[in-house]
Amino acid sequence: MAGLVLTMHFPSACSLLLLLAAASGASAVRTMIPKTSFDSQANFDADWNYNYPWGTDHNGGARMDRNQVRFSNGMVTLTARKVTGQKDATHGGKKIKINYLSGAISAKEHFNVSRGGGYDFSGEFRATTAKGTWPAFWLTAVQGWPPEIDMAEWKGSGKISFNTFNTSSVLSWKDVNYPSPDQFHSIKCEVRDINQRDVSVKFYMDGSLVTTQVGGNFFGKPMYL
Ligand SMILES: *[C@@H]1O[C@H](CO)[C@@H](O)[C@H](O)[C@H]1NC(C)=O
Ligand SMILES: *[C@@H]1O[C@H](CO)[C@@H](O)[C@H](O)[C@H]1NC(C)=O
Repeated sequence: MAGLVLTMHFPSACSLLLLLAAASGASAVRTMIPKTSFDSQANFDADWNYNYPWGTDHNGGARMDRNQVRFSNGMVTLTARKVTGQKDATHGGKKIKINYLSGAISAKEHFNVSRGGGYDFSGEFRATTAKGTWPAFWLTAVQGWPPEIDMAEWKGSGKISFNTFNTSSVLSWKDVNYPSPDQFHSIKCEVRDINQRDVSVKFYMDGSLVTTQVGGNFFGKPMYL
């Protein structure tokens, strides 16, 4: 089970398109990232950084590179390309060969569920399910780990996965069929305070609730998008 490893995202050797990423506070509703954030470099720079929040490498065989990120007209496209001659990455004390350059972006804002509050994260995605790819739309802890909420990830199996990690070995996961990867699918994730300790996470695909999970002790912990 891929979800049983601590950090799990192989950077995407893939193409992922995101139309509109709107994250709204729940009580006093406000849009944090507008649909227009992929319309121009100035709009992009207001809300997004290139690469992972911690740099260009994570735990897979791809290194993030801003040249693999393209955006216009409300849509961002992340594409991987095969390369040679890159220096190895290091993850968890292990060396990893880099065989691809790929694209990642992260939101400038951090997302911290507060009392009675929460966020909606939504977008339209077209993601490959080709073997060896791992595109992902996910939240992860700013300090330490967890929280991690995988709002949608495609692990190259033909399915789409939705996961919430309490610890590396205690997690909720749901893998479902992912119809027609060549078409756009809408993804929405509602993250809400339950009791000033735990957070509920509702995962929707194409307008239907797929699963509800609970993040233990996620309250008040800032997350990266
Ligand atoms: C994670 O923790 C919350 C709060 O204790 C709990 O409700 C939830 O069931 C836990 N998840 C798993 C997979 O055990
Ligand atoms: C996150 O939210 C909690 C609870 O509302 C608050 O105590 C904490 O200071 C916040 N942390 C950051 C980094 O904003």
